[in-house]
Amino acid sequence: IKIKVQDYSGDVQELEAPTDMGLSLMEFLKANEYPILATCGGMALCATCHVKVEERFDDLDEPGDQEMDQLDILPNAEHNSRLACQLRLHPDMDGIMVRLAADEE
Ligand code: FES
Repeated sequence: IKIKVQDYSGDVQELEAPTDMGLSLMEFLKANEYPILATCGGMALCATCHVKVEERFDDLDEPGDQEMDQLDILPNAEHNSRLACQLRLHPDMDGIMVRLAADEE
């Protein structure tokens, strides 16, 4: 699948992402050297993997309770905010665009 990623400088890259390796979007972004700390290791606790989904947000699965709780306390969260560690790469995610958002906190 193709995923577009906007980094903190505003640059947008389109990346080819595998869906057969069980990777989360956070793990994929880190593997591509995006500056995501992922201090909690993907437990939806640190919010350093906060992204804003700019395209195809409505097509993603709903966030779970733990992710919701984190997003609720994030000062800069918006309607399209998600935690990248809670999004498992899936064929349905083809064409999404995410913007890194943790740095805006
Ligand atoms: Fe910590 Fe996603 S890696 S909340």
